[in-house]
Amino acid sequence: MLGFRFHNPTVVHFGQGSIARLAEAVPPEARVLLLFGGGSIKRNGVHAEVRAALEGRHVVEFGGIEPNPVYETIMRAAALARSERVDLILAVGGGSVADAGKFLAAVTPLDPALDPWDHWIENGPPAQVLPVGVVLTLPATGSESNPVSVISHRARGLKLPFASEATRPQFAVLDPSTMASLDRRQRENGVVDAFTHVVEQYLTYDVTAPVQHGFSETLMRVLIEWGPKLVSENSDEARATVMWAANQALNGLIGAGVPQDWSTHMIGHAMTAAYGVDHARTLTAVMPSLLRFKRAEKRGMLLRYARKVWDIAEPDADAAIEDAIARTEAFFRQMGCPARLAELAPVAVDPELIVRHLAEVGQTALGERNDIGLDEARRILALAA
Ligand code: NZQ
Ligand code: ZN
Repeated sequence: MLGFRFHNPTVVHFGQGSIARLAEAVPPEARVLLLFGGGSIKRNGVHAEVRAALEGRHVVEFGGIEPNPVYETIMRAAALARSERVDLILAVGGGSVADAGKFLAAVTPLDPALDPWDHWIENGPPAQVLPVGVVLTLPATGSESNPVSVISHRARGLKLPFASEATRPQFAVLDPSTMASLDRRQRENGVVDAFTHVVEQYLTYDVTAPVQHGFSETLMRVLIEWGPKLVSENSDEARATVMWAANQALNGLIGAGVPQDWSTHMIGHAMTAAYGVDHARTLTAVMPSLLRFKRAEKRGMLLRYARKVWDIAEPDADAAIEDAIARTEAFFRQMGCPARLAELAPVAVDPELIVRHLAEVGQTALGERNDIGLDEARRILALAA
């Protein structure tokens, strides 16, 4: 295990009725910017619940954050936050709104004459940020208690993760009943996105980390069992179970002290930038082929995955690994998601566009050993065709 420091300061308020806890989480004197997406929170009553809990606070609202949140839109929100002298960002929605809220918290205090995108890339994350809270309505990304914002720059055609520990939300409200209005597609997406987050912190090279590996295996088994129930039944139990699992999958805990391989995610971000494909579906279309491509390097953990996650008793190691990857594909398809690029039709992915994006943003040495360069990415995409 590598040395690590684990400190997650996000206070999570979990459970039905927890939106009311905003009354304690948000200071009475706060000047709040309530950030939201395309309007789902107005239709399902979450907006009204949030406003009731914030009663007495100074609140300004900014709606219209897109799925795969757009930089240019966040810059408009920053102008409002400055003119209203906002001192707390409350993001209410899915991962896109949470990501936008965190990025907004970092760029609002910057000199408006700067281009925050370039400034961040050149100088690192801004030191001074506004505090952030999240009311989550779609479990998937773990964004509500992690330090990452994935932002799309429309003019440049890029989608990039920005990490800043200072933007990790101070509090997150996870009320599973907000999931009642999620359509089937978003429920499917949430489950497989969370699943791939676990895989990318687990299926690397062998290290002795029994706590992280054991918890990862539990999370994967839970998502395999409860994901289909969330999709078919959308019961209270399934909502609560998946919401908690998705949070735990990417709040830093299972990734502490272990090698990580985010190459499927970086290839997927490029695919969303080029074609607008849902984040989760880019991942499922690529990951099985990436695992096959890297089966020699990931052999030890693939074998453990076969035995501990899929209960495969097959004594032949190669057969067990292939069976585990095939079952992963079957799970993705059971969740209504593609396991090959061809299954994204009518979208036809041109691998060269993806490779160009990776080159442009400098993602040319991906994987737990930095050995997935542009040519390897090209070969993984060919295998995924
Ligand atoms: O915009 P509204 O109207 O709110 O509708 C949203 C959106 O259309 C809707 N929705 C959300 N909650 C709902 C609801 N509809 C009905 N009822 C509800 N309760 O769902 C649609 C998709 O929302 P979005 O936030 O885009 O989905 P998700 O949570 O999957 O977030 C995806 C974004 O997160 C990034 C992705 O790249 C993508 O941009 N990621 C962020 C990560 C992080 N911060 O750590 C890691 C992830 O790997 C990922 O890259
Ligand atoms: Zn993801």
